[in-house]
Amino acid sequence: MDQPRHILVGVAWPYANGEQHIGHIAGAYLPPDIFARFQRMRGNHVLMVSGSDAHGTPITVRAEAEGVSPAEIVERFHATFIDSYLKLGLTFDLFTHTETQNHWDVTQDIFRTHLEGGYIYQDSQQQLYDATANRFLPDRYVEGNCPFCDYDEARGDQCDQCGRTYEAVELKNPRSRITGNTALEVRETEHYFLDLSKLQEPLRSWLQDGKTHWRPNVIHFARTQVEQTELRGRPITRDMEWGVSIPLPNTAGKCIYVWYDAVIGYLSAAKEWAQLNNEAEQWRQWWDATTNSQARIYNFIGKDNIPFHAMMWPAMLIAYQSLNLPYDVPANEYLNMYGRKFSKSQGRIISILNVLERYQADAWRYALTAIAPEANDVDFTWDDFVERVNNELVANWGNLVNRVLGFAYKRWQGVIPAPGPLSEKEQGLLDEVRAGFHSVGDLYNSVKLKAAMQEVRRLSQRANQYLHDAAPWTTIKTDPQQAATSVYVALQAIDWLKILWAPILPHTSQQLHAFLGYDGQLFGRQYTQVVKDARGEHHVLRYDNSAAAGRWEPGTLAPGQALRQPAPLFVKLDENVPEQEAAG
Ligand code: MF3
Ligand code: ZN
Repeated sequence: MDQPRHILVGVAWPYANGEQHIGHIAGAYLPPDIFARFQRMRGNHVLMVSGSDAHGTPITVRAEAEGVSPAEIVERFHATFIDSYLKLGLTFDLFTHTETQNHWDVTQDIFRTHLEGGYIYQDSQQQLYDATANRFLPDRYVEGNCPFCDYDEARGDQCDQCGRTYEAVELKNPRSRITGNTALEVRETEHYFLDLSKLQEPLRSWLQDGKTHWRPNVIHFARTQVEQTELRGRPITRDMEWGVSIPLPNTAGKCIYVWYDAVIGYLSAAKEWAQLNNEAEQWRQWWDATTNSQARIYNFIGKDNIPFHAMMWPAMLIAYQSLNLPYDVPANEYLNMYGRKFSKSQGRIISILNVLERYQADAWRYALTAIAPEANDVDFTWDDFVERVNNELVANWGNLVNRVLGFAYKRWQGVIPAPGPLSEKEQGLLDEVRAGFHSVGDLYNSVKLKAAMQEVRRLSQRANQYLHDAAPWTTIKTDPQQAATSVYVALQAIDWLKILWAPILPHTSQQLHAFLGYDGQLFGRQYTQVVKDARGEHHVLRYDNSAAAGRWEPGTLAPGQALRQPAPLFVKLDENVPEQEAAG
């Protein structure tokens, strides 16, 4: 392959205000892990980072509702994220959060640099004020009708229906989420603004440059915003205490806006990772344009995050200068449940932690990739889940592995049989599966994960067909050498398919790797760590890839290699699962 490349896999920072559901996982958490695992197998230098988004009104609204501190909310859900990523096998090189000293330092440094560069100015602003509660109503403290699409549950900073961002005073029929007050006042308050008008032109030309590999909906949204509206200054501070403090005098009662600090996480986490490894300058290999302009930064997000990743953050990076801009922003659409959005308040939630207790991690990884909402909103139903696991994963891949391994183990005394000369048909099958390292590799590499999976499934089906036709369990009675050749060919195909499946099915591919008689690990090791700094103690999730032996290349399976006693890779699901799940 070409020179190894530095690839930063940035994953949307989840608000630590609730458990994650399978819609989050399918949208923005599983895809980057599949991509990262693939890139590491190819020998690229992957840094996959994210962390809990600890700030903003999503956190404080929940804390106030429960009568606890924001820090307590963050800690609780940060722990659930780490737990579920361990169980699902999401290999974050670092999953941290935004209440670290490092993150504060990096955020304040960027703020100061923007200020000194003339990209931040101070101005007074009109803000909605709830006189019954005696306070300003930033962001999610207020709801109303979207000024663009009229959606009636639009939030103070962004509309979930049309994805646009705006100022709370622009909402129609605003109401306070604290008191329900609809007679809101408009009061003046002083804030800092990022001067997007100065960044419009560089942003426009960056969005025009290349980007043919971007998903159409993402690039279209960003270009429309930057070309058809005149960008104005956007306030990047808020009238609230919980958040990164503004590194300037006379700013009591105000803090930096959550979105300004959260996107900086992609950079600050790379720095924290480097410090944890005692190689403080290593982050430059991914981020510093002078050190390495060939690095590629990917941002995996859900579609509601497009404005901040395709416009705001690139604008902030341009204003900061010297850092690499995103190479791709593969945003997904939504995974819905039975035709409607997942909704906690309405009880339509499938918590990932909860369902990992009952079903295999690789079953979820399979099903959520099979229905990945890459181009449209997609519906999750339990019937479909059972159908995918039983009729696709188990029937296609699981049974192939079972039959061949079981037969070989039993009839060849637990070693891989030696093949005779290969027929055209046998050579043809192996050539076709081997070509998957190119075809599937190209699809993984261009973040077409669903198509990559379809291609691996097709190749597995080809191996199934071959085995069906060769029927070694019959030929063994009349022509044992032919049976040995067929089994060897099938095992070799499985050994390659194992690699092609591995980014999606890492746990069962590892099991299969061991059944085939290999020692060692395809992937590295996840672990947690407690880090202390001036802001306190925080738990992080990490990943050590040093012992990983999985390579994106077709090795040769050695005849005579001792197999290990096989067992089924997957659990077939009971047909009653949809009923049981519906009954709760
Ligand atoms: N916390 C935001 C959300 O859950 C996502 C932030 S992504 C970041 O929608 F990059 F800004 F951190
Ligand atoms: Zn709208």
